[in-house]
Amino acid sequence: MKPREIKPGIFSVGAIDWDRRLFDKLIPLPDGTSYNSYLVIGGEKTALIDTVDPPLQHVLEQNLQAAGSPAVDYVICLHAEQDHSGSIPRVLELHPAAKVVTNHRCKGMLIDLLHIPEERFIEVADRETLSLGGKTLEFIYTPWVHWPETMSAYLQEDKLLFSCDFFGSHLATSDTFVADEATVYEAAKRYYAEIMMPFRKFIRKNLAALEDFAIDIIAPSHGPAYDNQDFIISAYRDWVSDEVANEVVLPYTSMHGSTKEMVECLTRALMERGVTVKRFDLARTDLGKLAMALVDAATIVLGAPTVLGKPHPLVAYAAYVAGVLKPKAKFASIIGSYGWGGQTVETLASLISSLDVEVLEPVMVKGFPREADFAALDKLADKIAAKHQAL
Ligand code: FEO
Repeated sequence: MKPREIKPGIFSVGAIDWDRRLFDKLIPLPDGTSYNSYLVIGGEKTALIDTVDPPLQHVLEQNLQAAGSPAVDYVICLHAEQDHSGSIPRVLELHPAAKVVTNHRCKGMLIDLLHIPEERFIEVADRETLSLGGKTLEFIYTPWVHWPETMSAYLQEDKLLFSCDFFGSHLATSDTFVADEATVYEAAKRYYAEIMMPFRKFIRKNLAALEDFAIDIIAPSHGPAYDNQDFIISAYRDWVSDEVANEVVLPYTSMHGSTKEMVECLTRALMERGVTVKRFDLARTDLGKLAMALVDAATIVLGAPTVLGKPHPLVAYAAYVAGVLKPKAKFASIIGSYGWGGQTVETLASLISSLDVEVLEPVMVKGFPREADFAALDKLADKIAAKHQAL
């Protein structure tokens, strides 16, 4: 297949992974993904920007052949994670004169992860440029999207930003550029929620740094490229802002119906008070959807039955995930049930202790909920609605 042209002299030569359904043995990929690699052919030198996940390196090789097998002078590494860097050793083998161009921190990580010899590297500083002849790459340090060494590369003459994971979406598509913004918005938000959200404040700084650049096209390393870059930049601005939505995220599970009855009652009470509820039955939920809901919500309420004296493991898992994703929620609470005792509240509270939230009085019930318990849930809904209104 012919390589896909982004602009004259710039080709997308990466691989589309239509069938992948899990990333990092953790993150669901309902729509597959892609590992984008870009070939930039200048008047004097040729650069390859990022590579592909090693199981698909044969696709990268085929695409480079289809592009006329140009000698690669520089392999630009924007991020050391192996879905982008893992095929660099193979490219260096095929192109013995090629150098890996990256920052100091990324170089150290590539030596550790891929055992690339030190003499194969050229280090670049923030805002340093590299001329390919009529095409000039400027490197912009954009740390913590989502590793500490991540950077972007700006192709000055074409006003094109290669952003690697930043602005990416796990989406296998035959479209080189975004064709359906609604679909890409969903995939990009899912991707942000799963790996970028903990670094919200760093990303804000990175967005501010990009304001120095006139950008026509953003070419990330997952999903299609953006020729309407305002669409994804304004979505990111919204996600990283401190603004929260009048929403409650309610992940729960129930063993014999008590916690479920409480979840039903709280859902109704919140709806009556004009609060949106996003409910997730953890026995069957998609972790990515839960992560996406956490991007905007003002409040998180965990619904947990007690088992073996502790919260049900599915709820403990959701609390742990919320704790590490560090959403911008401002309030949290816990509801649930127990048979004879236990430490459900204490355990869940410690799992979300990293969040900057005000904890609202939990409602824990012995056995099946009674009238007084439903009244306590109504009171919790009153408190949540009032807190949201006061924001
Ligand atoms: Fe797509 Fe962080 O690698």
